Amino acid sequence: METIAGGMPNVPHTPRNIIVGVCGGIAAYKSCQIIRDFGEAGDHVRVIPTNSALRFVGAATFEALSGNPVSTTVFDDVDEVAHVRLGQEADGIVIAPATADFLARVAGGRADDLLAATVLVATCPVVIAPAMHTEMWNNPATQANVATLRERGIVVLNPAVGRLTGTDSGAGRLPEPAHIAEIARTVFSGVCMDHNLDGVNVLISAGGTQEIIDPVRFIGNRSSGRQGFALADIAIHRGANVTLVAANNSTLPHPPGATVIPVETTQELQQAMHNHAEGADVIIMAAAVSDFRPAKAAEFKMKKSHDDSALHQLEMTENPDVLAGLVAARAQGTLSANTVIMGFAAETGDDSGSILEYARQKLERKGCDLLLCNEVGPGKVFGQATNQGFLLDADGGVAEVAAGTKHVVAAQILDKVAVQL
Ligand code: CTP
Repeated sequence: METIAGGMPNVPHTPRNIIVGVCGGIAAYKSCQIIRDFGEAGDHVRVIPTNSALRFVGAATFEALSGNPVSTTVFDDVDEVAHVRLGQEADGIVIAPATADFLARVAGGRADDLLAATVLVATCPVVIAPAMHTEMWNNPATQANVATLRERGIVVLNPAVGRLTGTDSGAGRLPEPAHIAEIARTVFSGVCMDHNLDGVNVLISAGGTQEIIDPVRFIGNRSSGRQGFALADIAIHRGANVTLVAANNSTLPHPPGATVIPVETTQELQQAMHNHAEGADVIIMAAAVSDFRPAKAAEFKMKKSHDDSALHQLEMTENPDVLAGLVAARAQGTLSANTVIMGFAAETGDDSGSILEYARQKLERKGCDLLLCNEVGPGKVFGQATNQGFLLDADGGVAEVAAGTKHVVAAQILDKVAVQL
């Protein structure tokens, strides 16, 4: 059995030197959460704000949160040659928010303040999260600067779409701090963010379906949707066009850059998947789909006190198998024969078979090309921040997917998908 490499989680965590750069924008206050996030993980954090950033958040806040002094200019700590030392010693740099002006300065190779000089010196991974008004983001000058930085290996996140400063809304909002920290952590752990999925259309389902019993009750499952969302995040950073069919994930931030289609039930999920499957190069069914649903959803709340309450014995009907249906559509020529189709299997072994035996049977039954199988049980997989498992292919191959955060696991899965493509 092969083991897929691609960034192991840092357990136990080896403290790293992380620089958090902050530019002058209203979202500067959100950087405090990122500083805290790395600090709580045990990393050594240095904050380098621009002068404009300090007009939004005071140096005292950054110093207190990071436990380190803050300076903006290359003329501080000259005896320690801080303008090169910080960049040389950094294991990772995350800049959030980054303004259009800062993107232009880095793309131009400027070193006119401590943050720009540090980025120019650094050889470690750099993650930049821009935030600005939509017009500035869409401006060809900004887009050209972003393209230049990406070509040089800097990971530039797409801004989120939503409320901006004042009454404006559109693309340009800073993604959630937890999202930025997670992507940065993934990049700093050595995960490849090369654009090996450039222009590839990826359709992903995520979350757990909810089958309606009545207006207040449903049958659901424990899936959080985090693995599917992480797949969407990494696929976007590798250059893919991502459509995410999200079942009941109201608490997870939408991956910036993805087209997100919210659904509730299996039938809605099936419809959304088939609507978007045509033209997809890769389809990943990460959603936990309910096998059965109540035969009839009650229009009014059902009363348990009624002697004849259907709640005593719900009549159930079988749901369609969405994954098998997509494989059938490919066989019938509705989808391209080259579409790579992947399933997930949350399994437990028992007296009759091991989880790998059950996973192999499932892959063959469903007819998909890849199947990620993971063991479920108390404290395992569902709702957890980490994942691990086995990736089976239709040729009989099995690769161990090393334990890691769901983003690290997503990167390993997409490495294998890229090979299949
Ligand atoms: N799946 C699906 N439609 C269903 C059930 C499952 O598309 N009605 C997909 C899931 O998204 C997953 C894969 O099939 O990618 C395996 O799901 P799982 O629940 O393990 O499979 P089942 O066919 O339901 O098998 P089991 O009897 O083990 O529950």
